[in-house]
Amino acid sequence: MSTMDKDVERVLFSEEDIHGIVQRLGKQISEDYAGEGKDLVLIAVLRGAVVFMGDLMRAIDVPLAIDFMAVSSYGDKAKSSGIVRIIKDLDVDIKGRDVLIVEDILDSGLTLKYLMKNLSARHPASLEVAAFLWKDIEGKQAAVNPKYVGAHCPDAFVVGYGLDFAEKYRNLPYVGVLKPEVYS
Ligand code: IMP
Ligand code: MG
Repeated sequence: MSTMDKDVERVLFSEEDIHGIVQRLGKQISEDYAGEGKDLVLIAVLRGAVVFMGDLMRAIDVPLAIDFMAVSSYGDKAKSSGIVRIIKDLDVDIKGRDVLIVEDILDSGLTLKYLMKNLSARHPASLEVAAFLWKDIEGKQAAVNPKYVGAHCPDAFVVGYGLDFAEKYRNLPYVGVLKPEVYS
């Protein structure tokens, strides 16, 4: 039991669920990027994707490199504007390489859409997205279509496994719905 557990209304994905999800994604990615001529680079978006990245990279059994980007959205904090400023850019050159963006959760997808446009201008050989969670809410089309999706997420504010509320709860080992009284 953690002192953070009391702020969680219900658990959506347990540690065991998460392990199963990540193993399945790792196997799928390993198959897709197997063989000569592939040059896989995982790019995680800081900070939320860090936990997923750490697990996913160890579930992939083909050679790979990793790098990180940090971005911040302009404007209204509660809603993604899709206008993004790069806070930390890549250290590696991705030209001609097989890039896989690793994201914690996809909501509007606007941040990711910008990022994909920015990265594709650097001419990678391929560019795909692995999202741990996808809030694909009916009537609300995401701006991008991730090739690898861990699980679908209901329209609730979730924390844990890298996901935060005001920079807290990232270290919870499961994903849970935050009690509304915590953020309202
Ligand atoms: P998008 O541009 O609307 O797809 O915004 C996605 C980003 O919003 C994610 O990378 C998260 O940082 C954040 N986010 C969206 N939904 C949640 C949530 O339920 N919990 C925590 N962070 C979230
Ligand atoms: Mg994020």
